[in-house]
Amino acid sequence: MNINKNYKNLEQSYLFSTVARKVSEFASKNPDKKIIRLGIGDVTLPLCKAVTEALHKAVDEMGVQSTFRGYGPEQGYDFLRTAVQKYYAKRNVELNLDEIFISDGAKSDLGNILDLFDKDNTVLVPDPVYPVYVDTNIMNSRKVIFADANGDNCFLPMPDKNIKADIIYICSPNNPTGAVYNKEQLKEWVNYALAQKAVILFDSAYECFISDKELPRSIYEIEGAKECAIEFCSLSKTAGFTGTRCGYTIVPEALGKLNKMWLRRQTTKFNGVPYIIQRGAEAVFSEEGQREIKENINYYKENAKVISDTLKSCNIWHVGGKHSPYIWLRCPNNMKSWEFFDYLLENAQVVGTPGSGFGRNGEGYFRLTSFGSKENTLEAMKRLEKILK
Ligand code: MLT
Repeated sequence: MNINKNYKNLEQSYLFSTVARKVSEFASKNPDKKIIRLGIGDVTLPLCKAVTEALHKAVDEMGVQSTFRGYGPEQGYDFLRTAVQKYYAKRNVELNLDEIFISDGAKSDLGNILDLFDKDNTVLVPDPVYPVYVDTNIMNSRKVIFADANGDNCFLPMPDKNIKADIIYICSPNNPTGAVYNKEQLKEWVNYALAQKAVILFDSAYECFISDKELPRSIYEIEGAKECAIEFCSLSKTAGFTGTRCGYTIVPEALGKLNKMWLRRQTTKFNGVPYIIQRGAEAVFSEEGQREIKENINYYKENAKVISDTLKSCNIWHVGGKHSPYIWLRCPNNMKSWEFFDYLLENAQVVGTPGSGFGRNGEGYFRLTSFGSKENTLEAMKRLEKILK
């Protein structure tokens, strides 16, 4: 047998695994030190009441003969797809149920979707961005080119007509920078994709953090997007499902064969998200669920403000945190990303994510997450002030 040699072209380990390994090495050498983790974007608030009640009810149903369920539809139960459909309809985006596919989260589908595309497509990825886009394409030996995101373009690269791309990734609100495209900017990307006959893979995992009503939360708010875009969303960050696992992917019928191909792929390689979890996810879209998750998002946004205020007081350049749970900062004293990571861990026992892990343009930057508890965020910022002011 021959192994997939493309794996040799990947970094030795996935960004967040490297961070976790470094932190656990530090922890074992310094067992008395309290480490505050503001690295990986993992939520800390528990699931909201509407969700846990629905989960309990579904567990009970599974223990009763008349309501027990075995295999479910691979693309998700109609009750959840209908809830997602209504959620989009509130923003005047009409979707057919057949266009909505329930997933176990955006990360898996962002990788799995590549099954539908030939290896010789050219992939355009913003830099810096969520590392899964690049890594999954390297695994398949696809050519990856980059759209530079930097301070000059407010971390929102725009299309360049002279560059030919077949698969385009967009993450808005952006992970890691927190930058959000407005409707006019997204329209330019849609026009570019249509002209190039390319597909946009739109990651909207952080859409719930958008507080400005004018900013688009779905690419389908842009005319023409259904003819060129697949959208991935997740309940991880919006409803605390990082450990519970549920999300949804929209593959519009206007994309032609791709919709049926995705169904074919999912029915072959996936057995669907558990019934119990889908009932919990359905509750996220109820009136009570929406109210409760908004409270949680506001809690994280207050943390983001605490982080931002502290960085301001330390004169550290930063963006994000307004429409996103992430704060993107320039490392002080021209430190490199991993250098600052070590410095913070050693001197303040605060963990963040090195910007260079998100791409070449992330070098010299650093990401902090607002997903910690309020107490830990306040404590971490106190420690930062002490060493950086
Ligand atoms: C992040 O911290 O960037 C995310 O938590 C990673 C993910 O969603 O997989």
